[in-house]
Amino acid sequence: MDSDTSFERFAKQYDEDMGDTGSYNHQHTIDPPLFDLIGDQKGLAICDIACGNGYIARKLMREGAKEVWASDISPELIKLSKEKYENLNVKFFVQEAEDFTNFPENYFDLVIIHMAIWYVEDVDKFLSNVRKILKMNGRFIYSIDHPMKWSLYKAIEAVPQEKADDENEKYLEARKVKTFNHWLSKQDDLSVYYRPMEYYMNLCGKNGLLTKSIREPSSDMIRQGKHYKSGIPMKMVIETIKVGEL
Ligand SMILES: C[S@@+](CC[C@H](N)C(=O)[O-])C[C@H]1O[C@@H](n2cnc3c(N)ncnc32)[C@H](O)[C@@H]1O
Repeated sequence: MDSDTSFERFAKQYDEDMGDTGSYNHQHTIDPPLFDLIGDQKGLAICDIACGNGYIARKLMREGAKEVWASDISPELIKLSKEKYENLNVKFFVQEAEDFTNFPENYFDLVIIHMAIWYVEDVDKFLSNVRKILKMNGRFIYSIDHPMKWSLYKAIEAVPQEKADDENEKYLEARKVKTFNHWLSKQDDLSVYYRPMEYYMNLCGKNGLLTKSIREPSSDMIRQGKHYKSGIPMKMVIETIKVGEL
């Protein structure tokens, strides 16, 4: 299975960067708001979509989740998840994010998609399926780029000023772009969907996933070998809850 959003081509580099704890950026900026919103995992049935090398799924199991199901489009990442690391009985699958055939309906207390919803093509279909597999009052937690991301990159001079101004100007335009591939340290065919915050929040509302809380972490990160700290957020994490009948 391959697609221009899959990490299959550079699964080994990505896995080396993440290991069993997540990269520096994950540990210092991206994961603390996720775990803060997840809260106590004890006894929960959790589904982790686009799970990468599965380190978050394993952490959830170690911290007391009842069961964790985890899927990714990349067969190599799922193979590494299953064979390289401690076997904690996470149910790993190779599965595209819009395909929910392996997941039971009305079953999960929590569904997460961390650092990956921007690789999903049909977000409306994806969210209607998330709703189906959640129990009533179950939670869906996702992370997205913060609207101030390009202002941050401008402030720390991580990209040319004109590039940041241009991206800020186009913030409201939902579009598919080929991005810099940090794991291969070059521009290549890895594609991502740039979409404004309202795109995701309105589709969550349409699919009966009510926004409950959000986290906007300050940034402490390593980018192309340089260390940056800034009060301007790069990412944000959003917690929603499945409510009522649609
Ligand atoms: C930045 S990684 C995030 C991994 C993990 N959620 C984490 O936070 O460590 C993005 C992951 O999304 C996966 N991915 C990309 N497109 C996908 C798709 N259409 N369906 C499922 N997974 C996809 C990639 O293979 C990669 O493992």
